[in-house]
Formats: sequence, structure tokens, C-alpha cells
Amino acid sequence: MASKADLIVGIQWGDEGKGKIVDLLAQKYDFVIRYQGGHNAGHTIVIDGKKYALHLIPSGVLNPSAVNIIGNGVVIYPDALIDEALQFGDLTNRLFISQNAHLILDYHIALDQAKEKSLGDKKIGTTGRGIGPAYADKISRAGVRLGDLADQKSAVETILSRYDQHGLTPPAKAKIASDVARWSEKLLPFAADTTKMLWDALDANKKALLEGAQGTLLDVDHGTYPFVTSSNTIASGACSGAGLSPKEIGKVIGIVKAYCTRVGNGPFAAEQSNDIGDKLRENGEEFGTSTGRARRCGWFDAPLAKFACRINGVDELALMKLDVFDGFDEIKICVDYDDGKPVYKSFAGWDKIAKARSFDDLPKTARNYVAALEELTGVKIALISTGADRNDTIYR
Ligand code: GDP
Ligand code: IMO
Ligand code: MG
Repeated sequence: MASKADLIVGIQWGDEGKGKIVDLLAQKYDFVIRYQGGHNAGHTIVIDGKKYALHLIPSGVLNPSAVNIIGNGVVIYPDALIDEALQFGDLTNRLFISQNAHLILDYHIALDQAKEKSLGDKKIGTTGRGIGPAYADKISRAGVRLGDLADQKSAVETILSRYDQHGLTPPAKAKIASDVARWSEKLLPFAADTTKMLWDALDANKKALLEGAQGTLLDVDHGTYPFVTSSNTIASGACSGAGLSPKEIGKVIGIVKAYCTRVGNGPFAAEQSNDIGDKLRENGEEFGTSTGRARRCGWFDAPLAKFACRINGVDELALMKLDVFDGFDEIKICVDYDDGKPVYKSFAGWDKIAKARSFDDLPKTARNYVAALEELTGVKIALISTGADRNDTIYR
């Protein structure tokens, strides 16, 4: 009997703690697959106090038995991937990259940063990693794919012509040629027909876990447009981004933070630009994994979380960073909107739950907060995270 691929998806604006959960679950999976986004993602894993920040390599890489796949829907900045891979030693047979994945080229980064600059106050607040321009070239059929590097001469000509088409001064041809040669040497050994690989794995009843990047509210179609990223971050993005039919998606696990954060600009109704937001940022160490930017912080937004659960078909939630409320006397949830303004419900806080590993050990007030989130989203919370480490986890 063929198996189905389970899926991890961010419920808010990214940085929910997807990396921790993918790493934790990967111990029970044969394959971990990234299906969209690029090195705008920053997924943190903490094992026995040691921190790893992953941007392109799937968060299964710290489990020696998991095979990691970068799917066709991901955009790859070759040197970022080459550098990131260095820390993991030999990844032969542990990492495969779709030959159809598009490359982010230096001019995509230049275009991203120039556009942001020209927007002034109205800028999106992108990560400046060339994500939007790379996806734009892909959609307008002007992209360069990993597999195109097999013909180095032709790849160099194509890249040169792209500079021309965008009205940009190209670097010296010799520079492009040496880049292409390096990328070919370092990355082509990992190139594969990852769609076929995944089908064969599922047919052989292997277990696969799809790792979403960013979050639902950053989805280019369903998020807070134009303050979004340039890919489909929601569960359905995994079908196109990995080459799976909708029928091959199994359990959908939504990753949700106990409060909300957002990096970059755009609407955030429950944002707390005050002491509360500052305390959340401090307790939660809310600074970007990719860019180091301070994250905007605010209360949990239940209507948005409910929307996200519906659009992703979430079966169960993992509730992250509940410990960040340690020392809060009062916690609020945005339960509704009245004329665009959040309506809050108040809950009693608690003293300390950091590192708790059993639901019964939690104070009643924390259990009440969890129950309220379940009721408001209509989805069971199957896991609660009480610290960054793998072990700081409560299973229910
Ligand atoms: P991702 O992009 O969804 O993988 O999340 P990030 O790694 O960008 O941000 C989550 C941050 O919170 C990381 O620094 C994690 O190490 C940390 N973290 C994850 N779970 C918990 C938790 O339950 N409690 C605390 N205090 N930190 C956590
Ligand atoms: P992970 O996977 C949080 C945000 C940027 C910006 C918008 C567009 O770690 O959760 P982009 O560079 O993608 O064109 O920027 O999207 N953004 C993220 N915010 N977590 C992320 O990834 C993000 N990736 C992009 O801050 O607002
Ligand atoms: Mg992140």
C-alpha cells in the first residue's frame, strides 16, 4: 500500500517554530522535503544546547537516517546552499535537489533591493534575498534551473542575456563562467528527478514529511497582499512544489505560536507596540534567523488562525513558545473583529512553565489558555512546546 506524505505548515507570518518540529518528527520519517521559498527562510533547531540555523537545507538533516529533498518549487541561491551544506560534511545520498528548481541569480538580489529602496515607506520589508524577482522570472519563463547548469556554456549565455533583458550591466563573462563552473561542480552531483524519487518512496510505503517555509499569512494568493512572499506557502503549495497529487497529502500539522509575530511591513491588527510587545520580543528572543531584524509582536489572532486551519486543512496543531508568557499576569486573545478593530478576551497568566514536559504539570491557567485556543480554532493541539530544545516538548 502506498503511503501519503505528511505536511508541516506555518499558521501565522512565519517563524512559528517549524524547524524544531520538523527536526523532532524527522526521527520517524525517511524523507523530508522543502517545497517552496528559498533562503528567506530561517529554521532554527536546538539540540542539547547547540543551535543550527537552516535556510535551504531541509530540517531533517540532523537526523542521520532522513533523506532530504529540495523540491522543484524552491528557489535556490547557489552559493547560499553551498555554504550552508559545508557544516554537515558529506551529504551524498542524504540530499537531493530537483533539477527543475530555479536559481536565484545576483541580479535578482539587486532587483529586490532596488525595488525596496524605490518604494520608500511603502516597502514590503523583504529579506532582500531576491525571492520575488526569481519567482517573477520563473513565471515569465525566463528562469535558469539547476538542471540547466549541465550545459555550462549555454547557461553562461542565458545568464548574460538576462542582465541585458533587465537593462542591467552584467558582470564580466569570465566571472559568470567561473560561478557557473563552481555551481555545477558543487550542486549538480545532488541534482535528481525528485518527483519520481518521492513517488517511488511513497509507493514503497516510505514515510515523507513536507516542510513548509514562511507561513499562511505570507501566501502570495491568500496572505496579506502585497505584504507577502512570492510563493504559495499554504499546504496546496506542496503539491506543485514537490510534484504530488492532492490525494498524496496525508496528515497536515499546523505550527502555531502562542502569540503572533511578523517581520517586515503589512497589517497586524493584534500588534502590541508597547511594553507587552517588548516583553514578548525579549522573552521569545524574537529577532530574525535570516536577517537579524526585530520581529513585531502581538497577541494571538484567533480569526486568522481559524482561517489558516481551514485553508490548509489542518488536522492538528503544534502550539509553540507557550513558555514565552512566563511571568505574564494577563494574556489576551483577539477573538473577533468589530469594524476592523480586534476584540480581545482576557486570560489569567502564570508564573513559569518553561521546559515543562507533561500536560498535567502545567498550571490550570496555562491549560485554560490551551483549551481556549483549541475552541477558537476548532482544531486539537497535539503538541505543546515549552522551550527551543528538542526535549522541551509535551505530547498529548
Ligand atoms: P521557523 O522559521 O518556523 O522554523 O522558526 P524560527 O526558527 O525562525 O523561530 C523560532 C525561534 O523560537 C527559534 O529561535 C527557536 O529556537 C525558538 N523556539 C522554538 N520553539 C520554542 C519554544 O517552545 N520556546 C521558546 N522559548 N523558543 C522556541
Ligand atoms: P520562515 O520560513 C518570517 C517575510 C519578509 C517580508 C515578506 C517578503 O523562517 O518562517 P521575501 O524576502 O520573502 O520576498 O519577503 O516575507 N518573510 C518571512 N517572515 N519568516 C520567514 O521564513 C520569512 N520569509 C519571508 O520579512 O515581510
Ligand atoms: Mg524562521
